[in-house]
Amino acid sequence: MPLPSTRPPGPSTSPTLQSKEWMKHPLDFLDSCAKQYGDNFTVELGSLGLTVFLSHPEAIKQLLSLPSHAYECHQYNQTYRSLMGDEALFLSDHQPHKRKRRLLMPSFHKERVKQYGEDIKQIVEEITQDWGMGQTIVIRPLIHEISLRVILKIIFGSISNPLSQVLRQLFKLAISKDFGSWSPWRRLEQRRSQLCQLIRAEIKTRRETENQSTDLLTMLICAEDEEGNLLSDAEIEDHLFTLLIAGVAPTAVALTWALYWIHENPSVKSTLVQEVRSLGTDFEALALTKLPYLTATYQEALRICPVLAAPSGRKLTQSVDIMGYHFETGTTLIPCIYLLHQREDLYSNPHLFQPERFLNHQYAPYEYMPFGGGNRLCLGSALAQLELRVVLGTILSHWDLENTNLEEVRPMRHGTVIAPSDAMQVTIVNKVS
Ligand code: HEM
Repeated sequence: MPLPSTRPPGPSTSPTLQSKEWMKHPLDFLDSCAKQYGDNFTVELGSLGLTVFLSHPEAIKQLLSLPSHAYECHQYNQTYRSLMGDEALFLSDHQPHKRKRRLLMPSFHKERVKQYGEDIKQIVEEITQDWGMGQTIVIRPLIHEISLRVILKIIFGSISNPLSQVLRQLFKLAISKDFGSWSPWRRLEQRRSQLCQLIRAEIKTRRETENQSTDLLTMLICAEDEEGNLLSDAEIEDHLFTLLIAGVAPTAVALTWALYWIHENPSVKSTLVQEVRSLGTDFEALALTKLPYLTATYQEALRICPVLAAPSGRKLTQSVDIMGYHFETGTTLIPCIYLLHQREDLYSNPHLFQPERFLNHQYAPYEYMPFGGGNRLCLGSALAQLELRVVLGTILSHWDLENTNLEEVRPMRHGTVIAPSDAMQVTIVNKVS
C-alpha cells in the first residue's frame, strides 16, 4: 500500500523571503534550515516551487539510485539556456541526456585526461614565471586564467589560435566584470551568436581538411552515435559552451579555496610542501598524482567548501518513497552536498580543515560527493582532479606564499558556485630554485 503523501517540515516564511535568503546567503540559509528542521527539509523557492533538500546519506543514495526516467533536471537549469544553447547537457534529460553523455564521455576518461598533465604544468609555469619576491597576487583572476587556458588547450589544441584568443579575451572580460553578480555570464551571452559563427567556421575548416589533431573539438567532430550519425554543428557549439562554462569557473573556485585553506593552516602547508618538494623541482606532472597528502588536501578542500553547495534539483516524474517520505510527482528533490559534507556523524569537527581524515578513511560515494552523483555525475571530474593536483603541486614546488588577505575571506554566491570573496590574496615570500 502506498504511503500517504508526506514531506519533511521547513520554514513557514514567504517564498519570496526564502528565495532571497537562498540567493544572498545560501550557506547560512542551509545551515539554519538544517539546525531547525534536521537532515531533510522543505523550502519554497520562487519559480522552483516546493523543493526538498536531502542531506542524509541514505536519502541521497536512494534519490541518486532512482532510474533516470524517474526525474528531470532541465527545469532547474533553464538559466543556462541562452548561454549553453538548447542542446546543452544540463538542459537534457532521459534518452537525449544519455546519448549526449555517451558521445562526450570518451574525451574525459581518466586515462585520456592524463595526457594533459604536462600541458597544465607548463601553463602554471608560464603564468607564474614573472612573479617577484614581495609581490602580492590576487588569487581569483590568476587561477581563472590558468583554468581557462587549460580548457582552451584541451578543446582547441592550442591557446594561441585566433578562436582561443577571442574566447580568452571575452572570458577575461566576463570574469573580471560580471563575476559576483547573480548572472555572471551576461556579457558572454551577448556575444554568443558572434562566437558561434567563429566556431562554425572552425568546424567547417576541420571537416573539409584532413584533420590529424586529437583535441576535443576534433573528437566531437568525428564522434558518432549508435546509429552512426555525426553531431550537428549546433550540438558541437552547445557542447563547447557547456564545457567552457562548467569547466572553468568550478575548477578555478576549487583551486582558490584549496590555496586559501592550505595557507590558513601552517601544519597542513608544511606537510604538503615537504611532500611536493620531495619530487625535486624537475619532476613529471604525473608524479604529483601519486602523492597521498596532496590528494587528501584537495579532497578536504572540496569537502569543507564544495563548489556547488547543491547540484541540480531533480523534479520527480513519478511518485517516489524515500526514507519513509512519500513524494508526489512534480516534487523537486535536491541532494545537498554542502550539508552532507558538514555532518558531524561523518566528519568529526566538520568546520576544521583536516586532510588527514581522507588518509585514514575511505568515504562512500553518498557520504562525499563534491562532483555530484548518479546519472549526472560531473563529466569533468577526472580532469578537475588532475588540474587540482598539478596546479597546487606546481605552485607549491616553486614558491613560498603567505595569505595576506585584505579582510576575512567569506563564501559568496557567484552564479551557481560558492566562491571565496575577492579579499583573498597571497604574497610571494620565496622562490625555490
Ligand atoms: C573542481 C571542479 C569541479 C567541480 C567541483 C564540479 C562539480 C560538478 C557537479 C557537482 C556536477 C553535478 C551537477 C548536477 O548534478 O546537476 C557537475 C556536472 C557537470 N560538470 Fe563538473 N565540476 C568541476 C569541474 C568540471 C570540469 C573541468 C568540467 C569539464 C571540462 C565539468 C563538466 C561538467 C558537466 C558537463 C556536467 C554536467 C553533467 C550532466 O549533466 O550529465 N566539470 N560538476
